[in-house]
Amino acid sequence: MGAAAAAHLPVMVDRVLELLAPALSPPGAVLVDATLGRAGHASALLAAHPGLSLIGIDADAAAIAESRRLLAPFSGRATLVQAVYDELPRILAEAGRAVVQAVLFDLGVSSPQLDDPGRGFAYAQDAPLDMRMNQASQLTAAEVLNTYPADKLARVLRDYGEERFARRIADAIVAERARAPFATTSQLVEIVRHSIPAAARRTGGNPAKRTFQALRIEVNGELDALERALPAALDAIAVGGRIVTLAYHSLEDRAVKRELAARSADTTPPGLPVSLDQARPRFRLLTRGAERPSAAEVAVNPRAASARLRAAERIRAAA
Ligand SMILES: C[S@@+](CC[C@H](N)C(=O)[O-])C[C@H]1O[C@@H](n2cnc3c(N)ncnc32)[C@H](O)[C@@H]1O
Repeated sequence: MGAAAAAHLPVMVDRVLELLAPALSPPGAVLVDATLGRAGHASALLAAHPGLSLIGIDADAAAIAESRRLLAPFSGRATLVQAVYDELPRILAEAGRAVVQAVLFDLGVSSPQLDDPGRGFAYAQDAPLDMRMNQASQLTAAEVLNTYPADKLARVLRDYGEERFARRIADAIVAERARAPFATTSQLVEIVRHSIPAAARRTGGNPAKRTFQALRIEVNGELDALERALPAALDAIAVGGRIVTLAYHSLEDRAVKRELAARSADTTPPGLPVSLDQARPRFRLLTRGAERPSAAEVAVNPRAASARLRAAERIRAAA
C-alpha cells in the first residue's frame, strides 16, 4: 500500500468496531463521533450498522466538508457539525437527543492536517506557523511564539510537550524573536535544534517534536477542551452505551484514564459494610489499561504507533 493510502487509515478500526458493536446494533442507535476527521471510523461504523445514526463533530471546516462528501452514501443518517467537541451538550440539545448509545474520541491531529503544508502542524515541512484546527479561531503558533513571556512559553513546553529543555528553548525563542519574529516552522525547528545539548540531539527522533506538540495543544486549548468534553460525553451515554477513546500522547491518555477510573469506581466511604446505592459505579471498564495497535497495523500505518485505546460501558443510570 502506498504512503498516501496508509495515511488515511482509521486507527485500530477493527477493535473500535468490536467494542462499539453491542451498543450500536439495536435499531435507532445514535453514535457521536466527536473527532470526525475524514470519517474513517464513522463510515466503517455506519456500514456495519444499517440502523445507526451519526452525529459527527470536528473543529476543522475542511474535515467537515470532506466528510460530507465521503459520507454521501449515508447522508440520511449523518448530521455533521463544525464545532469544538466541548460544545457537545449544545449539539445534542439542538439534535433533540438527551442520550446517545456511543461516543468515539480519536484525539489529536488528522493525517490530512499533518500532510497539508499550509497548516503548520508538521516539523518535517516548512510552513507558516499556524497549527489552528479551527481556522476561524484567533490564536496561532506564531502568535504564541512572538508574544508569550519566557516563563509562560517554558511552562507550555514543559506541561504540554514534557520537554526537558523547556527553559533553554523558551529563552532561545525570546532571544531570536527580538532579531526577527517567528513566521515559519523551519525557523522554529532550527532554534529548538540549537538550544538543546548535542548529546540529546542524537536520541529520540526530531528534537522539535515535543515543542510542536506543546504549541499545538496550547493553540487549540486541547487538554482543556478534552477535560470539559469527557464528562459531558459520559453523562450523555445511555445505560448499555459505550465510549471508546484513542489518545496519542500521555497527557491526553492520562486525562481519559482519570475520568474513566473515577466513573467506574465505587465511592462508598471505606468502613461501610455494604456499597451505598448512589455510590456504586456508573461505568465498567472494557479495556485492561490502554490497548495498543498490533505490530502489523503499525507496519502499514506508522502514525498508529503511539495510539492508546480505552473503552467503558455505562452500567447504571445517573443517580
Ligand atoms: C485523528 S483525527 C480523527 C480521524 C478520524 N477518526 C478518521 O477516521 O478519519 C482527529 C480530528 O479531531 C479534530 N479535533 C481535534 N481536537 C478537536 C476538538 N477539540 N474539537 C473538535 N474536533 C477536534 C481534528 O480537527 C481532526 O480532524
